[in-house]
Amino acid sequence: MKFEPADGWPPLVMMNRMGRTSNELNEVNRLFVDFAPRARAPVLDIGSGYGIAALAAFDAGARVIANDVDLRHLEIIRAKAPHPIETIAARFPDDLDFPPASLGAIHAANILHFLTGEELLLAARKMHEWLRPGGKVFTITGTPYVRTLEAFIPTYKQRKRSGQPWPGEIANVREWSTHPTIDELPDFVHFLDDETVSIPFAAAGFIIEKVEMFERRNLPEYLAYEGRENVALVAAKPSTPQSFGSSLGST
Ligand SMILES: C[S@@+](CC[C@H](N)C(=O)[O-])C[C@H]1O[C@@H](n2cnc3c(N)ncnc32)[C@H](O)[C@@H]1O
Repeated sequence: MKFEPADGWPPLVMMNRMGRTSNELNEVNRLFVDFAPRARAPVLDIGSGYGIAALAAFDAGARVIANDVDLRHLEIIRAKAPHPIETIAARFPDDLDFPPASLGAIHAANILHFLTGEELLLAARKMHEWLRPGGKVFTITGTPYVRTLEAFIPTYKQRKRSGQPWPGEIANVREWSTHPTIDELPDFVHFLDDETVSIPFAAAGFIIEKVEMFERRNLPEYLAYEGRENVALVAAKPSTPQSFGSSLGST
């Protein structure tokens, strides 16, 4: 199965203007797609969009559940899948639920930056509950260190210095940039870095296997800034119970 959209459909911009997707798997998508068929339980893709990672994992033999807040995106995924694929239209984390220890892996690409700090704490707790011991979360998220948000970066750094818990929360991103692609975003966005993205996962009891800011493959030129435009995080639910909050920081 091939994942190139025919004649530019679906477009790269999401139908609900919640950012963009890509035609090619990035480094974190690839880690998830490689892990998913080996997970001994269904795997969940949160904020699937048009299914770039969900369909690749499905094609690789994983039992995939694709979630998105927008039913139209899931209809496109169902149309593209070679066999019936499970989809759930729900807003994460509030409206999405699974039985405890029922999932083998969770992928969340370019969706955590639509959640508030409080929602991220709930999100990581729910992911931890849903995963089997040894299960993993794979995430990639936008940082503030992108050219389109250059005007926000000094404020972000100042907020970090003053100890604000969620320095990347922005009520109206249009106040910080006039770049045309900013109109592809909702008003509220929450840019994360390697420290802030780790907080909810460490608090929920995950072992953080990898967390780093980096320049992802095929990053659009208009975003390129300092080589840390995205943050990747891979976190594992321990096979044996751990004390909470013990794994903050990069490995
Ligand atoms: C920027 S796109 C990313 C799509 C895909 N994961 C990728 O990396 O190409 C974000 C997607 O997340 C969905 N989304 C945003 N907030 C969500 C939420 N709270 N729960 C579930 N899906 C959400 C949007 O509808 C959109 O399809």
